[in-house]
Amino acid sequence: MATYPFNYHTLDDLRTAIEAQHLQIPVSEDLSVLSESIPLGTSGVTLDNRLIVHPMEGFDTTEDGAPTELTMRRYDRFAESGASMGWSEAIAVCLEGRSNAHQMMITKDNLDAYKRMVDSFHEKSGGKPIIAQMTHSGRFSAPEGTLHPLVLYKNPLFDKTKFHDIDEIPVVTDEYLDTLPEKYHNAAELAVEAGFDGIDVKACHKYLLGETLAAYEREGRYGGSFENRTRLFRGIIKDTAESFGNKAFLASRFNLYDAMEYPYGFGCSRDDYMVPDFEEISRLVTEMENLGISCINITMGTPYLTPHINRPHTNGGVIPEDPLIGCDRMIKYTAELQKRFPKIAIVGAGYSFFREFAPYVAAGAIKSGMTTLVGFGRMAFAYPDFATAMMNGTFDKSKSCITCSKCTELMRTHHSTGCPIRDQEIYLPLYRKYCQGK
Ligand SMILES: Cc1cc2nc3c(=O)[nH]c(=O)nc-3n(C[C@H](O)[C@H](O)[C@H](O)COP(=O)(O)O)c2cc1C
Ligand code: SF4
Repeated sequence: MATYPFNYHTLDDLRTAIEAQHLQIPVSEDLSVLSESIPLGTSGVTLDNRLIVHPMEGFDTTEDGAPTELTMRRYDRFAESGASMGWSEAIAVCLEGRSNAHQMMITKDNLDAYKRMVDSFHEKSGGKPIIAQMTHSGRFSAPEGTLHPLVLYKNPLFDKTKFHDIDEIPVVTDEYLDTLPEKYHNAAELAVEAGFDGIDVKACHKYLLGETLAAYEREGRYGGSFENRTRLFRGIIKDTAESFGNKAFLASRFNLYDAMEYPYGFGCSRDDYMVPDFEEISRLVTEMENLGISCINITMGTPYLTPHINRPHTNGGVIPEDPLIGCDRMIKYTAELQKRFPKIAIVGAGYSFFREFAPYVAAGAIKSGMTTLVGFGRMAFAYPDFATAMMNGTFDKSKSCITCSKCTELMRTHHSTGCPIRDQEIYLPLYRKYCQGK
């Protein structure tokens, strides 16, 4: 099995590796662009700088889905990171769509706890915006800890794998899907009341809304044609825009493509599923833009089957390709979408892989117009003031994320998730207990 240690001691080492593989990863030593303010698409909001925090699940809520002290600590750290915007982790819109018993879920009963969390984020960040990510976990639903998938269609790439090793996988009815817009509406209403500045209608990673987009073989109103497959997603965006657009801007965490063979992947070329079909993708993004989405946070693949595609890493599980290739794929396809949609604030992902060189790659991508914003996920777990350090040119590599995947391992155990390497006091004992059985 090939391994890909992070053998870049200098920026020139990284440049040499990029050139040797003819990759399109941009690098700029001029970091000034990172501190430039920018309008967030057509939202009317202006961001202070080009770095934001990605949505990162912490699985540390109470059983009723309310933020705990540990949750508050994470969001306070994000607020003080120097990033210009926060983005909440996945918040379940209904109990049956919750991915585990400690995933966020916003309800009338726990609204005050969300208000406290958002108020604190605003106060500690000096008034920066934060987006609420609305989700239904679909095939990864496990509201009480054990898997209870709700799928739109059978998918042999998942069914009977370690993720879905159960006999009966229920395919949801159209009538069930008809009930979802109201659930998204109610959750968005509460998120707005809690003070979130933006609402993310999430469609990625093969959770429910992401899965709808590839329902090629499903019968009925939610399957087959482009119009049917995108009906639920478009309907929820439309309702969110019409109901709350005057109070919160609209965003989406969006799979540019699923990188899965036909008929299981959205946005994939039928000749080669590893290549995006920009005709289909652009058709949907045009509709998203027309419906009022001003910010799209790009991701691709699914962390369950293809983590190397959406979070290139140095360690953890089988790594089927040089992570630089994964970074290149993410950066170049994101750039293609940004080129086609210059008015949308596109957010790039996967940059934590670059460690101390991440500021230079982020600056290169922004400067060359490949993306408007760069988000950081794992880096935000590891390095509390990462954005300030990147902008000031004072990045300390001893605080950097090393993409070891230990946070993902913790997440897979459904326990409180964070960085056991750089935030040891809290997360190392949890990692030892739940991942190493010590
Ligand atoms: C532990 C963990 C939890 C995550 N939780 C979410 C989530 O709730 N919603 C989401 O859209 N992406 C989630 N992601 C994906 C990240 O937002 C991000 O796209 C990914 O980590 C790549 O960015 P990075 O290289 O800066 O880490 C998660 C990733 C990790 C490692
Ligand atoms: S555990 Fe920490 S160092 Fe490892 S990938 Fe996660 S955030 Fe990065």
